[in-house]
Amino acid sequence: MTTAVIGTGGIGSVIARELASGGETLRLSSADDKSAQMLAAEIGRAAVVAVDNRDALRGAVAVVLALRFTVLKGVIDEIADPLTGKLVVVPSNPFSLDAQGNVYRVLPKGQSSGEVVAGWLPAGTRLAMAFGTMSADLLESSSNRSPEPAVLFYATDDDRAGEEVERLIRTAGFEPVKVGGIGQSSRLEVGGDLHDLVVGPAEARSLIGAA
Ligand SMILES: NC(=O)c1ccc[n+]([C@@H]2O[C@H](COP(=O)([O-])OP(=O)(O)OC[C@H]3O[C@@H](n4cnc5c(N)ncnc54)[C@H](OP(=O)(O)O)[C@@H]3O)[C@@H](O)[C@H]2O)c1
Repeated sequence: MTTAVIGTGGIGSVIARELASGGETLRLSSADDKSAQMLAAEIGRAAVVAVDNRDALRGAVAVVLALRFTVLKGVIDEIADPLTGKLVVVPSNPFSLDAQGNVYRVLPKGQSSGEVVAGWLPAGTRLAMAFGTMSADLLESSSNRSPEPAVLFYATDDDRAGEEVERLIRTAGFEPVKVGGIGQSSRLEVGGDLHDLVVGPAEARSLIGAA
């Protein structure tokens, strides 16, 4: 199947490599195409560079929006029409840098990033918050772990989105575990109790219940 990856920076490039390794075909786009071109060249035949963000969605069943939180809404608005009917996977954490270079959360305390993103999406899309629960390095090194696969947590309100994102998570070399609905996505982000963990399925399930 084909998945679009919009944003081919730190996390998008790892997600794309892992999906391609698992047999997914990819359509890539980035802000100026350079990073998407380099990534496509590295991945080989499984990846093509789209003309633009809208073109990335052509023939794709799902899209990973591997973008900084502050540009997400603009890109969603740009691709709203072709997004309809697709699974939208968002790994973004709601953080940015201030003028002094300090990291700050761009949403008020207690507001879940998943609920905010859900409010930006057009009707007819299915959202899963996933693939942003580990740093890019950890995501890269934990794929296809053996003998027990590492877990990638996800959050969604939609059963069909759950099935679809589970397929992508397995394709990328992880075992999927649902943390709960979109409102639970803050548990997955930087600072959340399930962020940057490399655990197997049994431990993952006990951690979910422990909160
Ligand atoms: N990096 C990590 O370890 C990590 C881990 C977990 C979650 N996350 C989250 O994932 C999100 C992305 O982080 P990142 O580290 O991957 O950021 P990044 O390295 O800055 O990459 C962002 C990507 O977005 C692309 N982009 C920017 N504006 C665009 C637009 N209008 N249309 C299409 N593409 C656009 C950039 O294109 P160009 O390449 O052309 O500049 C770049 O490829 C953040 O919210 C972060 O919190 C990151």
